[in-house]
Amino acid sequence: MKAIRLKQPGGLDNLTVGTAEAAAPGRGEITVRIHASSLNYHDYMVVLGAIPTPEGRIPMSDGAGVVTAVGEGVSEFAVGDNVVSTFFPNWPNGDADLSNMGHVPGDSADGFARQIVTMPTAAFTHAPKGYSHAEAATLTCAGLTAWRALVPNGNLKAGDTVLVQGTGGVSIFALQFAKAAGATVIATSSSDEKLQRLEAMGADHLINYRKDEEWGVTAQKLTGRRGVDHVVEIGGSGTMAQSIAATRIGGHIALIGVLAGYAGPVSTVMIMSKQLRVQGLTVGNRRQQQEMIRAIDVSGIRPVIDSHYPLESIADAFRHQASATHFGKICLDI
Ligand SMILES: NC(=O)c1ccc[n+]([C@@H]2O[C@H](COP(=O)([O-])OP(=O)(O)OC[C@H]3O[C@@H](n4cnc5c(N)ncnc54)[C@H](OP(=O)(O)O)[C@@H]3O)[C@@H](O)[C@H]2O)c1
Repeated sequence: MKAIRLKQPGGLDNLTVGTAEAAAPGRGEITVRIHASSLNYHDYMVVLGAIPTPEGRIPMSDGAGVVTAVGEGVSEFAVGDNVVSTFFPNWPNGDADLSNMGHVPGDSADGFARQIVTMPTAAFTHAPKGYSHAEAATLTCAGLTAWRALVPNGNLKAGDTVLVQGTGGVSIFALQFAKAAGATVIATSSSDEKLQRLEAMGADHLINYRKDEEWGVTAQKLTGRRGVDHVVEIGGSGTMAQSIAATRIGGHIALIGVLAGYAGPVSTVMIMSKQLRVQGLTVGNRRQQQEMIRAIDVSGIRPVIDSHYPLESIADAFRHQASATHFGKICLDI
């Protein structure tokens, strides 16, 4: 069965097509024919070699497919079930701690750029009803991160205002979850054409962050100066000052991404005086994924897929992601 492996020291030219087989499932394990994956910035950092991995690592944290065999003692899944992978297979529920952050597919363990895997049941949940494999594969990292930021961590409720930044995978999901919950959404992008697409998806207010460097101040004005309740912060240090300006007293900034920098000066006095809750997060646990999927089944949210690439064209898929011309998720068909 086909698999992509990363030769060290990494880089898109070091992604090679090889093979990998899967053992028969043991007790508590399932075998899954993987049909799709989706690209995340984290996967891009892995394949570039910016996140160290051993020689021959199989990349990609996201995987979706069909159960082809179940091991002894497995009752949660049956042959023929459509499933989607979990980002932290060792984190079933509750708070994050050192014991459940390891074994991340495509990083600290082999991932889903391959056609067949055998893993413990905790490495998967059922996929949403009626989803294609590509749609399901968008949920593992981007979908769950947006969900956890707004619902379990943010306690999002109808009437809240949510600021989302740009049109990548996490931000589009955040827009969709926020609208489904009855929130007002202020959306930013570097592109007027993309802003029109955000409006068509229900965004209430639009700001081009290239044309308006004070986009956080503008967002605050759009709320009648009260400020937004939640910011889905995918920029990091380079966007924090405007995110803080946008947020209401006592509001919540979900600190998720690094697209505008890993470190830099942040006004801690503004965080203190505005009494902000700045909550860092890394994806979420399996229970949260199951709750997100239950919400998707009820709300009918469908992921926005920008494009599909065959597994062998994984390097081209990452080049497309790096160009930042995409809108939503880029998927691999496996
Ligand atoms: N903490 C976690 O658990 C977690 C999980 C998933 C992702 N992340 C992080 O979240 C970030 C986004 O991930 P993703 O997979 O959604 O990425 P992505 O799909 O590659 O998003 C790229 C888009 O982000 C927007 N963007 C880039 N720089 C921006 C800036 N300075 N201000 C506003 N928007 C900007 C651009 O949108 P426009 O073209 O519309 O301007 C760009 O097209 C990454 O840093 C990733 O590592 C973290």
